[in-house]
Amino acid sequence: MSVMIVVGTQWGDEGKGKITDLLARDMDMVVRFQGGNNAGHTVVIKDETFKLHLIPSGIFYNNVLCVIGNGVVIDPAVLLQEIETLKSKGHPVNNLRISSQAHVIFPYHKDLDKAQEKKKEAGRIGTTCRGIGPCYVDKYNRRGIRIGELFDQETLKSKLEWNLEEKTFLLEKFYGMKVKLDVDAILNEYLGYAHALKKFVVEESSSLVYEAIKKNKKLLLEGAQGTMLDVDHGTYPYVTSSNPVSSGACVGAGFSPKAVDEILGVVKAYVTRVGGGPFPTEIEGGVGEKLREWGGEYGATTGRPRRCGWFDGVVMKHATKINGLTSLAITKLDVLDNLDKIKICVAYEYNGKQITDFPTDIRRLAKCKPIYEEMPGWQEPINKVKDYKDLPQNAKKYLDKLAELAEARISLISVGAERGQIIRI
Ligand code: GDP
Ligand code: IMO
Ligand code: MG
Repeated sequence: MSVMIVVGTQWGDEGKGKITDLLARDMDMVVRFQGGNNAGHTVVIKDETFKLHLIPSGIFYNNVLCVIGNGVVIDPAVLLQEIETLKSKGHPVNNLRISSQAHVIFPYHKDLDKAQEKKKEAGRIGTTCRGIGPCYVDKYNRRGIRIGELFDQETLKSKLEWNLEEKTFLLEKFYGMKVKLDVDAILNEYLGYAHALKKFVVEESSSLVYEAIKKNKKLLLEGAQGTMLDVDHGTYPYVTSSNPVSSGACVGAGFSPKAVDEILGVVKAYVTRVGGGPFPTEIEGGVGEKLREWGGEYGATTGRPRRCGWFDGVVMKHATKINGLTSLAITKLDVLDNLDKIKICVAYEYNGKQITDFPTDIRRLAKCKPIYEEMPGWQEPINKVKDYKDLPQNAKKYLDKLAELAEARISLISVGAERGQIIRI
C-alpha cells in the first residue's frame, strides 16, 4: 500500500490526528492538503498531549518527511509558534517542508472573518475566526498572496497595497469596523516570518510527492475537517471553505488519482459538531452532555463545547459514497462504555418516506427526522483491550452495525486517546 488518504467522515474532530500519528510510523511522507489552523489535530504520546493546527501529524517521526501542501492556507505566526512548541518539547522539526504555492493568511482575513460572523447574526456559521474563508476567497478571486511571494519584497508590497485598499473599504464602509491596516507594518511583520520559514519552503511540493510515488515510497495524505464540512458535499453554507474529501487530496497535494491505493475514513463512534448548522442526530441535554463529558468534547482549536449526537448511518453512507472509502478507523468507542442503550440512526424520514441518501440541501434536510435502532451497551471499560477478540460481545455487534451502514470494512478501532490504545484488525 503506497498512497493512503485519511479523511474525516463526519463534521471534523473524528480523531484524524491520532490515526495519522499511528500510521505515520510506517510512512515515508505525510502531507496536509487543505484547510489551515481551523484544524486541531490531537496526538497523545504517553502522558504528553500535542495539538497540531498546521504541521502534519507525522512530525514525531524524524525520518518521515512532513509536507504542508499547496492546498493549505497558512497563518505564518501560528506555524512558527507550533514549530517552537514542538522544539521546546524535544522534537527538532527538521523534517518539515512547506509548499511555496500555499496561500498566506493576513490580518485582514481574520478581521473579515470576524466581521462577517458578527454581521450575519441569525445565520451565523460559527467559524473559527482564523481567516480561513476570506483567505480562500482571495485565492479563488486571484488576489491571494502565496508563501513564495513573501520572499519578493516588491511583489509583496504591491499586492498588499492592492489588497489593503479593498479590505479597508469593505471593513470600514460595509462592516462598520474601525481598522488600522498599515502596509509597512504588515510588510515588515511578514518579511520577518518569511525569514524564519525560509529553510522549510520548497518550490513545488508536488514534485516531492511525485518523486516519492515514482519510487514507490509510502505516503499518507492527512485530511483536516470532515466530509460534512466540505464546501461542495457538506451541509452548505454551514461548511468550511475547502474540500476535505478524498479527491481534495489530489488537488491540494498535486498528484494523480491513479496513484491512490487506500482511502481510510476516520469515524467517531458517535457524532459531534462544533459551530452552527444542521445536525440531525444531535442530543440536547442528558446523554448529549454525558458524551461531551466522557469524550472531552471541546474544540482543540477554539475550546468551544462540541455538540454531541448519536451515530448517523445516513451521514456515514454519504461519506463512503463521496470519498470511496476502502476501510474505516472507528475512534472513541470507549466513550460509549457506560451507556446501557445506544441509538443508531439507520435512515431519515422525509415526506413520509424512508431515505438513506443524505440531502445536502439544508432546506430538505430540515424536513428529515432520524429513524433510530437501539442496541444494548456493553457497560464495561474497553480502554485496555488490545485484541478484537477481547472486546465485549455487544461492542462487536455495535461495530458490525457501523460497518454495515458504512458499506466498508473496519481496519482500526481506537479505545483511548493515547497512541497505543488501538486494536488492529
Ligand atoms: P481530529 O481533529 O480529527 O484530529 O480530532 P481532535 O484531536 O480534534 O479530537 C479528537 C479528540 O479525541 C482528541 O482530544 C483526542 O485526543 C481524543 N481521542 C482520539 N481517539 C480517541 C479514543 O479512541 N478514545 C478517546 N477517549 N479519546 C480519543
Ligand atoms: P479538524 O481538522 C471541527 C468548522 C467550524 C465552523 C465551520 C467553518 O480539527 O477536524 P472555518 O473556520 O473553517 O471557516 O469554520 O467549520 N470547523 C471545524 N470543526 N473540526 C475542524 O477541524 C474544523 N475546522 C473548521 O467550527 O462550523
Ligand atoms: Mg480537531
